[in-house]
Amino acid sequence: MKAAVRERLFLLLLLTLTVASVPWTERKNVLFIIADDLRTSLGCYGDTVAKSPNVDQLASKSQVFLNAHAQQAVCAPSRTSMLTSRRPDTTRLYDFNSYWRVHSGNYTTLPQHFKSKGYTTMSVGKVFHPGIASNHTDDYPYSWSVPAYHPASFKFEKQKVCKGDDGELHANLLCAVNVSEQPAGTLPDLESADEAVTLLKSRAADGAPFFLAVGFHKPHIPFRIPQEYLSLYPLEDMSLAPDPDVPKLLPPVAYNPWTDVRKREDVQKLNISFPYGPIPKDFQLRIRQHYYAAVSYMDAQVGRLLSALDELGMTNSTMVVFTSDHGWSLGEHGEWAKYSNFDVATRVPLIMFVPGVTAVRNWSRGSTFPFIDILSQSEYSFENAKVVRNMVELVDLFPTVSSMADLGAPKSCPRVSLQVELCTEGKSLAPTFRHAEKGKNAELLAFSQYPRPADAPQVNSDLPDLKDIKVMGYSLRTWDYRYTLWMGFDPQTFQVNLTDVHAGELYMMEDDPGQDTNVYSDFERSLATRKTDGLSRVASLQERMKLQLLRLTAGMKTRTRAKHDRLGRV
Ligand SMILES: *[C@@H]1O[C@H](CO)[C@@H](O)[C@H](O)[C@H]1NC(C)=O
Ligand SMILES: *[C@@H]1O[C@H](CO)[C@@H](O)[C@H](O)[C@H]1NC(C)=O
Ligand SMILES: *[C@@H]1O[C@H](CO)[C@@H](O)[C@H](O)[C@H]1NC(C)=O
Ligand SMILES: *[C@@H]1O[C@H](CO)[C@@H](O)[C@H](O)[C@H]1NC(C)=O
Ligand SMILES: *[C@@H]1O[C@H](CO)[C@@H](O)[C@H](O)[C@H]1NC(C)=O
Ligand SMILES: *[C@@H]1O[C@H](CO)[C@@H](O)[C@H](O)[C@H]1NC(C)=O
Ligand SMILES: *[C@@H]1O[C@H](CO)[C@@H](O)[C@H](O)[C@H]1NC(C)=O
Repeated sequence: MKAAVRERLFLLLLLTLTVASVPWTERKNVLFIIADDLRTSLGCYGDTVAKSPNVDQLASKSQVFLNAHAQQAVCAPSRTSMLTSRRPDTTRLYDFNSYWRVHSGNYTTLPQHFKSKGYTTMSVGKVFHPGIASNHTDDYPYSWSVPAYHPASFKFEKQKVCKGDDGELHANLLCAVNVSEQPAGTLPDLESADEAVTLLKSRAADGAPFFLAVGFHKPHIPFRIPQEYLSLYPLEDMSLAPDPDVPKLLPPVAYNPWTDVRKREDVQKLNISFPYGPIPKDFQLRIRQHYYAAVSYMDAQVGRLLSALDELGMTNSTMVVFTSDHGWSLGEHGEWAKYSNFDVATRVPLIMFVPGVTAVRNWSRGSTFPFIDILSQSEYSFENAKVVRNMVELVDLFPTVSSMADLGAPKSCPRVSLQVELCTEGKSLAPTFRHAEKGKNAELLAFSQYPRPADAPQVNSDLPDLKDIKVMGYSLRTWDYRYTLWMGFDPQTFQVNLTDVHAGELYMMEDDPGQDTNVYSDFERSLATRKTDGLSRVASLQERMKLQLLRLTAGMKTRTRAKHDRLGRV
């Protein structure tokens, strides 16, 4: 037995002994599942291509948030923001290179909060972003009762392990493999699911409450997945993104050149021009095919965890949260990455199963989440139990999960919260579980941001280091609009210069759901003729953007009415 494994087992045993005397029977366990780079390409989100029966089955017993948005569409900043419930301007992490406890503030994380309430907290796979962003320990020991588990086969992820068309092994983007021929004979997410099931079994025997976080690596690139999942998506059935070209009115600062995709050997062979591409159409179809296959593969691992809960008789005492760190553009706007403020990059699945709340049923053993093997069973059908359409944000997750586990929600953060260890910049969504949504609430906004090193696409536009950030794109999503302002930003003071607007974007969702027609300049013109007094009194950027948005909205209503009047006359 390896020393690290032995240490983890010993710590688990120790914990078991120390908390066993407390009566825990009414405590809800938490199984927190996070996918990597998963947009809402799931059956339960209305995607008709995706085959995701296990997540869809979970959704059929859950509350499904249809419009949940990440605060920054890249792994480390999004995960740190979600798990501390602070926005990137408070974690001060926009890249991969700092640890919030020393760089900004000693913020309490979601698992740490559960740990402080007596839960055994465990991390499997990619939950925190590994490396500097979590002090090379996944924030152990603060967040976790035992050191985090990482699948050993992940070290091969970027190596030459993909059989190319020439029969040789390459470090490819498209990497559907025969698992038994892979080094170690397995894949990271298979290993993580195995480990998570083992931990669930040990928890079932023990009975003390747990918070188990499982971070799957897929559908993040490279698409190193078991080859059989490709057959679910025949190439002839695949189609291109509805808007595969770079929009004409897209400000260059908003565009990101997807450099990580370009680095893969199979993509390099295509000699794609920088920064705009495009990727040849037949290869675009194959990327989409592989992404969807990676989703189905990840879905199967989720199914294994859920059916283990069933078999262990823990479904009725375990809250299940399923989400992702951000989305991924599958060719929309000519992009193949996260790294932007478009919905395809910021919008994520957010599904919460709360036993006794989202589902009240006859809990007979093994019947709530039976495993659905999509490779042998093609027919299935589920309807979401309950949906919430209003905008929500990943910073809401901490107070919501905490509330639904009866641990209460942290108080709201003051404007400057660097010294406050436990508070939230989101809000508890617990009230949404108590009653049905009363139509759309236009007041609810989702707020995201993305940094850039320059006004035009550079090699580091996807992911600039903090010191190189010159422009920050702040973006608001409401029911009706996405509104983004790219403004001057000082990486030393973390201050945005509100009068230094480099570019703007405005998309009207009703006419333009894909966010392809930027109408910002039309409204900028109408804005210029309006009074702006009073705005200087509003210190917070959010308030300022909200105000601007409301003013724009007023302008738009007039315009829409005028358009309707015209149409009426025709
Ligand atoms: C940070 O918070 C943890 C947990 O509350 C505490 O143990 C630690 O001492 C704090 N560190 C600092 C530098 O305040
Ligand atoms: C980060 O890790 C280093 C090395 O393990 C350790 O010395 C340091 O105390 C850790 N930082 C915090 C804030 O815990
Ligand atoms: C996968 O590889 C193993 C070992 O080389 C081989 O026996 C098996 O036939 C392969 N499976 C497929 C579907 O190619
Ligand atoms: C790659 O593209 C550039 C221009 O886009 C062209 O000049 C060059 O010859 C191409 N190289 C190959 C190997 O096709
Ligand atoms: C949960 O189900 C198990 C059997 O599957 C049963 O023993 C237990 O009493 C149930 N707990 C609750 C809280 O309903
Ligand atoms: C619960 O389900 C089992 C098996 O499906 C059934 O035999 C039993 O009658 C059900 N109990 C109730 C209270 O509905
Ligand atoms: C903010 O930007 C404006 C316009 O570019 C500039 O005149 C002003 O000096 C900037 N303020 C700061 C504090 O950098």
